[in-house]
Amino acid sequence: MRLHLNENTAGCSPAVIAALRALDRSAAGFYPDYDAAGDAVAGYLGVSPDHVLLTNGLDEGILAVAIMAVRDRAPGIPDFVTVSPAFDMYEIYAKALGARLIAVPLGDDLTLSAGTIRAAITPQTRLVIVTNPHNPSGTIVPPDTLRALARDVRPALLLVDEAYAEFAEVSLVDRDLFAAQPNLVVGRTFSKAFGLAGLRAGAVVGHPATIEPMRQAVSPFNLNAWAAAAIPVAIADREYRDWYVAQAAESRTLLADACRRLDLRTWPSAANFLLVRVGDRAQEIVAGLAARGVLVRDRSRERGCEGCIRVTAGLVEDTRRAIAALEEVVCAARR
Ligand SMILES: Cc1ncc(COP(=O)(O)O)c(C=O)c1O
Repeated sequence: MRLHLNENTAGCSPAVIAALRALDRSAAGFYPDYDAAGDAVAGYLGVSPDHVLLTNGLDEGILAVAIMAVRDRAPGIPDFVTVSPAFDMYEIYAKALGARLIAVPLGDDLTLSAGTIRAAITPQTRLVIVTNPHNPSGTIVPPDTLRALARDVRPALLLVDEAYAEFAEVSLVDRDLFAAQPNLVVGRTFSKAFGLAGLRAGAVVGHPATIEPMRQAVSPFNLNAWAAAAIPVAIADREYRDWYVAQAAESRTLLADACRRLDLRTWPSAANFLLVRVGDRAQEIVAGLAARGVLVRDRSRERGCEGCIRVTAGLVEDTRRAIAALEEVVCAARR
């Protein structure tokens, strides 16, 4: 059971697979067209298509935003500011672009303090990245805090990574807000709630004037034809998405209850995963779970989540099996 990368453990909607099966030889032979996918994403998010750049997964979206942030660099090394712990790709792309990543530590409750972010801003800061819900804890930042932060970090860009927004039902995507704060960019993905991680489909969303130059930072045919065909169908099958979001919510509750019984600390998560402090024996526990066929993410050696593992909360039946395995290995580690 793959519970280490926060994927959709049920896979995509059956309607998506039917649509992909219906693609013919010309779909592979011709360069893809993105109009239907772009319109579907814009409609889903309640903005016009010129607010949206489709990307090869949100990973590519983060890279496109980062490239634009350093493009008109003043002399000196540009700074990116984020929190620690955070999604790995922020640091990887900062390094690739020759930027310095300033990662401000989160407190014990792993919630973001906008004041700490503001204090880390330097004249060299080009990009601030906040994940909402946060990965790896699943905690939420109130939208008002982010709106104020977008104002305060100007002229730097604020990228709000909403990879897990569907599970939390919170989003900053709002046409009027983008008009008022053109330095705000929101990242979205179809890898999580929609189960398209294997196809690679994401988007960055913002004011058209901010998004337009980012189109030059990605390849002209950055999504393959299968991803482009899947997006409108996935969005149209609202019932499937809602069913999976409900499965994830139930799984989160089951997992949090089990951790409470085992006396393991968790953080309130609004995403499809839970961060669990298993303590000094984290590596042993990760190995014990793997031996029972359950893969979880070891984050125990990272600043701010020492002794922790992150477990995907997906299909309820998978979660029940994962809980049984967790109970076994935790009890064995305590003997
Ligand atoms: C916070 C965050 N942002 C972005 C991504 C990348 O998503 P994608 O699969 O769309 O590249 C992930 C994937 O795990 C993530 O956790």
